[in-house]
Amino acid sequence: MDAIVVEGLEKTYPKGIRALDGVSFRVREGEVFGLLGPNGAGKSTTVRVLATLTAPDAGSATVAGHDVFREPDAVRGVIGYVAQQSGHDREATGRENLALQGHVHGLRGAPLRRRVDELLDRLGIADAGDRIVRTYSGGMRRRLDIGLGLVHEPSVLFLDEPTTGLDPEARASMWDELERLAREESLTVLLTTHYLEEADQLADRLAIVSQGKVVVEGTPEGLKRQLRGDAVTIELADGRAEDAEAAIRALRGVHEASVEDQLLRARVENGGTAVPGILSALEGRGIGVTSVTMSRPSLDDVYLHVTGRDFRTEDQASADE
Ligand SMILES: Nc1ncnc2c1ncn2[C@@H]1O[C@H](COP(=O)(O)OP(=O)(O)OP(=O)(O)O)[C@@H](O)[C@H]1O
Ligand SMILES: [Mg+2]
Repeated sequence: MDAIVVEGLEKTYPKGIRALDGVSFRVREGEVFGLLGPNGAGKSTTVRVLATLTAPDAGSATVAGHDVFREPDAVRGVIGYVAQQSGHDREATGRENLALQGHVHGLRGAPLRRRVDELLDRLGIADAGDRIVRTYSGGMRRRLDIGLGLVHEPSVLFLDEPTTGLDPEARASMWDELERLAREESLTVLLTTHYLEEADQLADRLAIVSQGKVVVEGTPEGLKRQLRGDAVTIELADGRAEDAEAAIRALRGVHEASVEDQLLRARVENGGTAVPGILSALEGRGIGVTSVTMSRPSLDDVYLHVTGRDFRTEDQASADE
C-alpha cells in the first residue's frame, strides 16, 4: 500500500501566487521520500496540506489510507510534522520539551517517561536531555524538533527542511541518524530539501518540484542514469556564448549543449575524449576559455535537463527576493 497518495494539488495564495500547480506523487510505506526543489517551489505548502494545516483549492490526498480533507483528525493521529521553523521552547530542557509534547498527545506517567528517554537516546541527545535548549548546538536543536514530531509514535513523519542552516558536518551526521530513526521507528518519511546532496544521500525515491509542479520522480540513481554521459562545464572568458554553443553542438559525441551567462554546459558521451576536441574547436574560433570542469551526472544535471534551468542559480535567485 502507498503511505501517501497526492493527486493534482492546486493552491493559489492571495495576490495570485500559484504555489501548487497540480502536484502529484506517491510514497510507499516505509520509504524515505524527498521533495527536492529550489526556494518557493511549493515544498512547504505541499507538506502543510498533507499535515492538514492548510487547504488546497483542488486535488486529493490520502495519508496512511485516510483522506486528508474528509478525515483530518484521523490523519493527525498518525502523522508527525516537523516545521521548517523550529517549534521548541528555548528556555526549557530537552526532556521538558518532549514531555510537554507528550502531554499534548495524552501520554502520562511511566509510558511518557519511557518514550522521552527512548527518543533522547535515539536522537543522540541523551547526555543533553536535562540542559536548557538555549545551550544546544543547531544540530541538537533540530534533533529535538524531530523528537517533538515523534513523541506519539506516528507512522508517517513530515520533515520540512530538516537540515537547513546546519553546517555540512552536522548535516551529514543528521542524515545517518534520520536513516537509523526511520528504521527503528518503522516510519514512512516525507522530507523536503533544497540540498541536492541531501536528496541524493537520504531519499529512497524523490520528486523534483519546480514552480508548483513535480517535474520528475524516481530513485536518485535512476534519475541520474537516464542522463547518458558526462557533464562538461566551460567558463567562457569573453562572451560569444552563442558562437561557442554552435561550435560545440556540431562536434561528434556531444548530446546537448546550452549556455547561461558565461557558462557553457554540454553533455558528452565520454568526457575524457570530448574535452580536447571541445577546446580546440573553441580555440579555432578564437573563443577564450577561463576554466573547464567535467563531472559524472548529478541531480543538478537532472534538474537542468528537465527544467532547462540551473538549480543553484534558481535557488539563490528566489532566496534573494
Ligand atoms: N502564506 C502565504 N501567503 C502568500 N504566499 C505564500 C504563503 N506561503 C507561501 N507562499 C508563496 O507560495 C510559493 C510556494 O511557497 P512554499 O513555502 O511552499 O515554497 P518552498 O518550496 O517551501 O520554498 P523554501 O525552499 O523557500 O522553503 C512561494 O512563492 C511563496 O512565496
Ligand atoms: Mg519551505
